[in-house]
Amino acid sequence: MADNFFLGKSKKEIISFFFSHNILVNPSFADKISNGEVVLSKNFVDFAIQKRITVLDDSSYKKLVDLNKVLFDTSKGEGYSVKVLASYPENAGKKEFKDFVRHYNLRYHQLQNLLKNRQELSHLKSVSKVLSSRDRSPCSIIAMVDEKTESKKGTSISLLVEDPTGEIKVIVKSKNKEMYDLAVNLPLDSVVGFSGSSDGRIFFANSIIIPDIPQAPMKKAPEDVYAVFLSDIHYGSKKFLEDDFNRFIQWIRGELGDEKQREVASKTKYIFVVGDLVDGVGIYRGQDSDLKIPDIYEQYKGVAELLNKIPKDKAIIIIPGNHDADRLAEPQPPLPKKFAAPLYELENAFLLSNPSYVNIHSSPNFPGFNVLLYHGFSFDYYVATIPKIIAQGGYDNPEAIMKFLLQFRHLAPEHGSSVFAPAYDKDPMVIDLVPDFFVSGHIHKTSISNYKNVTLVCGSCWQARTAFQEKVGHHPEPSRVPIVNLKTRKFKILKFSSNK
Ligand SMILES: [Fe+2]
Ligand SMILES: [Fe+2]
Repeated sequence: MADNFFLGKSKKEIISFFFSHNILVNPSFADKISNGEVVLSKNFVDFAIQKRITVLDDSSYKKLVDLNKVLFDTSKGEGYSVKVLASYPENAGKKEFKDFVRHYNLRYHQLQNLLKNRQELSHLKSVSKVLSSRDRSPCSIIAMVDEKTESKKGTSISLLVEDPTGEIKVIVKSKNKEMYDLAVNLPLDSVVGFSGSSDGRIFFANSIIIPDIPQAPMKKAPEDVYAVFLSDIHYGSKKFLEDDFNRFIQWIRGELGDEKQREVASKTKYIFVVGDLVDGVGIYRGQDSDLKIPDIYEQYKGVAELLNKIPKDKAIIIIPGNHDADRLAEPQPPLPKKFAAPLYELENAFLLSNPSYVNIHSSPNFPGFNVLLYHGFSFDYYVATIPKIIAQGGYDNPEAIMKFLLQFRHLAPEHGSSVFAPAYDKDPMVIDLVPDFFVSGHIHKTSISNYKNVTLVCGSCWQARTAFQEKVGHHPEPSRVPIVNLKTRKFKILKFSSNK
């Protein structure tokens, strides 16, 4: 629990304290502070003063809490450190057409920034400059892909692309096989660079430059600590694998396994839960008959009881998924307190948005690891539409999907691959910060691998194969837990299934 700065203080004392800092407290809100219903820590009070708010009431308090979460070191507990780098609060309100236009503009500029200094993009010009010039010498553009048409004979692909100054047709010839492959697999609405030349009407590409990530050094923690990755618990489903999950709980409590395995459990300080904590209610037609627990409050109560058994010296970092009681539009705000109250009572739990960024295990002599969390709702779309991902195994190859999104530096580039909510000051789905770990779930298939020193992790699930999954050709691998030693960055997959 946070320290209570106003412990034992009367309503009057609280009001006069804030008054001396030019803040008017709503009287009913002062009551809540006085009777302990709202607990304000010293840090929080300093923050409110520093933010120069004029009125403190329920709504300004909520805003400050959300801001505080994003801006402050929220680490608590012993042996772990969790800093929230980006978590998006509820951003309600009617969305207008102009918000969507603005959203795509923000995305363009964020990705343009990642691309503009690339050596391959020499003589960079705006689309309007290219269109107004008769100069046929080599040049480059950075543009968003609007349309893609393959010629009937398969000898070229024509792309319609645009930047904020205009749109132009780009021709990609099949003679250059590598570039042609790239074009075939380009997601629409992604932002990429083209170098080539133009006749003032059409741009003839001789290379396509995708944002990708640079090869980064592999960070290693000074201590022997571990992180484990859970996702898709689906508590409440008839197919929830309770015995398997209980085996995991027993292990993490040091009650299961040989001496070495128990030692690893005791050194595990970070547990990620990457969405679909519960099976939810009304997620798909006819779900009722698949539910053991049909009440959403009971579902969260049950999953919280299980997570409460995890020792408190381990941080649990939780984001929502598409089965959770959250809006579907991404970024999904942290799980609503209304439904998931029992999770908020866990002192070692951090509830963040989907997607979000955290930094873990920093200390005065170590910068910590940056972790990008995304449940993976958009994965279904790319599994079905991108030829390269289909050829690499689709749902059976989460690594290929995650690598693909990392290369385009966006979690859901193509419009329609996820539902999104605009009106932030940036596109939160852009992967602007290169993470040390990119963590996801959703497709119920475990994988862990490295790409340019970023560890890609897809969590397993705790739900046996459902009729729906059977129909769409999923091969879930339940009850597995990817684990990483943060000192060596070596990883493996632990199995908790009774039928190994
Ligand atoms: Fe799931
Ligand atoms: Fe999911």
